[in-house]
This record gives sequence, C-alpha cells and structure tokens, in this order.
Amino acid sequence: MSVGLHPELVQAMAGLPRGVRWHMAGRARSFPLDALCAEVPAAGRVLEIGCGHALVAASLALQSPGRHVVGYDIDADKIRSAEQVAAAVTAAGGNLAVSVGGDGGSPVPAGPWDAVVIADVLYLLAPADQETLLSAAAAELAPGGVLVLKELDDHPAPKVAFARAEEVLATRVLRITAGSHLHWRSADDWAAVLEQAGLKVSVRRVHRRYPYPHALIVGRRPPA
Ligand SMILES: C[S@@+](CC[C@H](N)C(=O)[O-])C[C@H]1O[C@@H](n2cnc3c(N)ncnc32)[C@H](O)[C@@H]1O
Repeated sequence: MSVGLHPELVQAMAGLPRGVRWHMAGRARSFPLDALCAEVPAAGRVLEIGCGHALVAASLALQSPGRHVVGYDIDADKIRSAEQVAAAVTAAGGNLAVSVGGDGGSPVPAGPWDAVVIADVLYLLAPADQETLLSAAAAELAPGGVLVLKELDDHPAPKVAFARAEEVLATRVLRITAGSHLHWRSADDWAAVLEQAGLKVSVRRVHRRYPYPHALIVGRRPPA
C-alpha cells in the first residue's frame, strides 16, 4: 500500500487551494503510488502524460534528483496547481517541469525518454486515440526505456463497479476530470497493445489493499 505523500510534497502543496490539497491527499491514499514509482528508473528523462496536479510527477522527482521529470496535461487549471508544485519541488532539489498539452492531436514530446508514465488517463480517450498515443510513446522510448501504465483492470467485479461509478461522477457530474469518453480495457488488453508496439510487457495487479482494481502494465523497449 502507498505510504502516501512525500514530506516535501506536503510542503509543496501548502499554497494550493484546500480542495486541490484534499484531492491529492485522497488520491495518494487510494492509489499504488509507491508501486508505480518503483517501476521508473532512478535516473534519466521521465515524461508523465496527463499529470494532473503532478502528484505522481512530483513524487518521482522528489524521490530521486537523478530523474528529470516533465509532465503535461490537457487541463489548464490543474497545470496551474502543478506549476506551484513544480516550483516547490525544484526549490527542494528535484527536477520537474509541467505544461499544458495533449489536445488529442498533439504528438508525444520528442524523446528519448527513459520512462513514460501514464496513470489513469487512457480510459478518457477513444480507443483509436489510445492506440495512437501508446505507439507514439513507445516510439519515443530510449533503448531499455519503460512505458508504465496504471489502469483499472476488469476484475474483481465489485471493485470494477465501485471504480466505474466514481469515474462517471468525476467526469460527468462533478467534472473534476476532463474527458468525454470512458473506454476501459483489461490489463491483458493493455499488455497486448504494448506488445503490438514492440515492447516486452509485464502486468502486476496491485489492488489487494484498495477498493479499486489497480493494475500496472509495464512495457520495456529492448536494449540497443
Ligand atoms: C484521473 S486524472 C489522473 C491524473 C494523474 N495522472 C494522476 O495519476 O494523479 C486524468 C488526467 O488525464 C488528463 N487528460 C485527459 N485527456 C488528456 C489528454 N488527451 N492529454 C493529456 N491529459 C489528458 C485529465 O485532464 C486529468 O488530469
């Protein structure tokens, strides 16, 4: 289970609106942040697509100053908060830059990336856009680089029902999350898409202590 927020990140969040702080703290408790971060190399260029308020990107940067982390998100409001977080991370010795991007048609920023992280974003895209984004991300990996996906699996059923009800609330009722599509796939389906993109894939189901069916799908580009 995640140990929660990095102490420096708690400080970095101090100037954010209370609602954003609560959202980030809640997500840190309900999401396998440590397991995800452990899949990312301790040094190198790291891209997070759909970084939101930069919870994951900031955690990665604070864990290891050898990581040079870049995050982008389609939501300008979230990026305004993420910019405050990034400034505090930089002041604490980490390397993090964030910007607005990803209107669906924009390409993945040029690599080579040692890791590309996509956490709970793909289900917001139409299936064809999911595949375009993943093959573009795979093409920008350095030899030996990893594409790390955190998605919700299609079992166990009670966790799937709970997670999907919450996402409908977040996207369609509360509108906390930008995105008009809700297209989930199973972890095995994501693995097949990454294999199709030429990556060697492993799947870890990391939902044991959570009410959500969290899965990590990790694709590695073969070394040169
Ligand atoms: C559930 S949030 C996850 C945020 C972050 N990855 C995390 O794990 O905390 C999904 C994010 O995907 C972003 N998003 C949706 N479509 C996107 C796109 N086409 N490009 C980039 N970001 C996108 C949303 O704005 C939102 O911040």
